[in-house]
Amino acid sequence: MTVSLKVNDIAVNAEVAPRTHLADFLREDLLLTGTHIGCEHGVCGACTVLLDGEPVRSCITFAATCGGREVQSIEGLEHDPIMSALRAAFTAEHALQCGYCTPGMLVTARDIILRLPDADDDRIRLELAGNLCRCTGYNGIVRAIRHVLTHRPDVAPLERPA
Ligand code: FES
Ligand code: FES
Repeated sequence: MTVSLKVNDIAVNAEVAPRTHLADFLREDLLLTGTHIGCEHGVCGACTVLLDGEPVRSCITFAATCGGREVQSIEGLEHDPIMSALRAAFTAEHALQCGYCTPGMLVTARDIILRLPDADDDRIRLELAGNLCRCTGYNGIVRAIRHVLTHRPDVAPLERPA
């Protein structure tokens, strides 16, 4: 079937099988391999991308359901100022080791920055519950997110229905 959507601000028309999930579509059809695939059943968060601005697990999202919608993968956020701040903070705080979880972790972290400007460490940890990291023990990740929250008071909170 044909699907028309925007990926990283570029209009895309593609033929997809009904069962193709968005992660495979991004990686294999569009060669956007920054989105990682771990568990492939919605548990680890490695495949997290933005769909109409909200984080989703692209391994359990069918590409065919994304018609008329906007997808941002990690590649599309390269010049985003919050993402730039997060990348620097992740480096400074040793928030990654193998890096496999990192693209999904960064997409979720950016959402925390936008949505929860007053988040404390406990809330950050709660928000990260859907992104698994086998390497870091999470402390560096929490420190990095807290650093960006603390040093970016200019970021307006995101208005999103509960
Ligand atoms: Fe999608 Fe694990 S690969 S949640
Ligand atoms: Fe290796 Fe997170 S840095 S899984």
